Amino acid sequence: MSKKYDVVVVGGGPAGYVAAIRCAQLGMKTACVEKWHDDKKEPVLGGTCLNVGCIPSKALLDSSHKYSEAKKDFEVHGIKVGKIDIDVPAMIERKSKIVKQLTQGVRGLFMANKVEAIQGFGKLLKGKQVEVTSADGKSEVLEADHVILAAGSEPIDIPPAPVDDEVIVNSTGALEFQDVPKRLGVIGAGVIGLELGSVWARLGAEVTVFEAMDAFLPAVDSQVAKEAAKVFAKQELDIKLGAKVSATKVSGKGKNKKVTVSYTDSDGDHNAEFDKLIVAVGRRPLSANLLAEDSGVEVDKRGFVVVNDQCQTAVDGVWAAGDLVRGPMLAHKGMEEGVMVAERIAGKKTQVNYDLVPFVIYTHPEIAWVGKTEQQLKEEGVEYNVGTFPFSINGRAMAANESAGLVKLIADAKSDRVLGCHIMGPSAADLVQQVAIAMEFSASAEDLGLTMFSHPTLSEAVHEAALAVGGHAIHAA
Ligand code: FAD
Ligand code: NAI
Repeated sequence: MSKKYDVVVVGGGPAGYVAAIRCAQLGMKTACVEKWHDDKKEPVLGGTCLNVGCIPSKALLDSSHKYSEAKKDFEVHGIKVGKIDIDVPAMIERKSKIVKQLTQGVRGLFMANKVEAIQGFGKLLKGKQVEVTSADGKSEVLEADHVILAAGSEPIDIPPAPVDDEVIVNSTGALEFQDVPKRLGVIGAGVIGLELGSVWARLGAEVTVFEAMDAFLPAVDSQVAKEAAKVFAKQELDIKLGAKVSATKVSGKGKNKKVTVSYTDSDGDHNAEFDKLIVAVGRRPLSANLLAEDSGVEVDKRGFVVVNDQCQTAVDGVWAAGDLVRGPMLAHKGMEEGVMVAERIAGKKTQVNYDLVPFVIYTHPEIAWVGKTEQQLKEEGVEYNVGTFPFSINGRAMAANESAGLVKLIADAKSDRVLGCHIMGPSAADLVQQVAIAMEFSASAEDLGLTMFSHPTLSEAVHEAALAVGGHAIHAA
């Protein structure tokens, strides 16, 4: 006889594990099926984000930032240190410990909330049944009143640069280098290319990034993207725009293996040699083999499971969330969808506000934004006012020697309602969240201008940008 649950979740990443915990909190008998496993064939929870995404990449970004600060920035504070060195295996080991701590933490949360974690590959059959095939090949069928599909995504491969997990790697391999490559190539100047390119550049690699498009960070507000391009150029990230990689050739043996990248740009055809090459050209949803042919769930031509704004699929009682469905591939977007689905199953009317998804690129300085860019508003024909404030005249940023970048706030010209905020600068990720909260409550730029901000803080740059919308920033000439 098959096991019966109120809810079966397929996938234990941020969308799936959060949905499972919330379902259990709401009193539902919940199981979460996860294919990732350890040596004991126990499910490893946390998905891409905790295992090979957000968390390990930030651990390496933080370690490499400390190294680069000690090497380049301490002296300006009058701090003298001896020879600075980096022990890459120790840095990687620290990252792996944090990953383990967090993935085991999710396991603990499952136990505390009585979510059953089941190891195996889940496939949705007709009639809200989930077939689970475990690592040893055995299968069983689970029955549920509701199924939540949260299988996530995987890196896209490109034929000219096949990943061999040795010299040519994807983001997962780039988190495991055991020494600093002298020359590192990166295909794709997106979020992963910039973040992981920064990690290895800070540690001393000469990094070249090949971006097929002519525009740099087209989704970012163009003023901020221009500033960012200047800052990255100084950090010795050689970003080649309009560069199309046509082939790669691996040569040499063992530690001496190299890869030659052939690419074409507006100046013609070129070759460049690297010790490692990271392919970071986007991710695709993991919907292949997830659905039986007669499951009734629709998939679009790019492989995304088709859902409405409430994450319902075409089959009543089958839901999908996270990277598997439309929208940005971000952990926090998936988590909020997981909560919404659980609460909707419980009869609540929860709704994700897709207009206010915050975005962050964790370079140094960070780039963060929420709401509309100036170019989007122009396209939509919306009239707006802009206020900007540079960190170069923010007292706290100067005190910290972190004065690159700016805060840009955009407000509706008629109502003064804040429509977007774009920041490049120290702690941009946390600063933009203040504006996201204000926007969630439909604040105007004047509301932000009338709010008292502690002095001296980086947040004062947000305050001044809000005042600048009305043309009366205090600390700007
Ligand atoms: P996933 O995290 O991919 O989880 C899906 C889970 O389902 C996986 O554990 C998988 O093993 C399992 N699974 C798949 N198919 C099946 C099946 N058939 N049966 C059973 N289990 C299955 N996002 C941010 O918001 N901030 C960041 O800083 C950030 N940094 C990133 C850095 C890197 C290098 C990468 C690669 C991604 C990063 N992301 C970041 C994106 C983030 O990791 C994803 O958006 C997030 O993990 C998506 O969550 P998810 O639950 O939808 O999918
Ligand atoms: P991306 O979509 O951010 O960037 C991919 C880049 O590669 C684009 O600029 C694209 O034009 C370029 N590209 C595509 N094909 C190419 C080719 N053949 N040659 C050269 N360039 C090519 O994807 P990325 O960086 O792989 O990240 C995947 C996703 O993971 C992101 O979209 C994001 O959702 C998530 N992520 C989020 C992070 C964060 O929130 N800080 C950090 C890392 C990843």
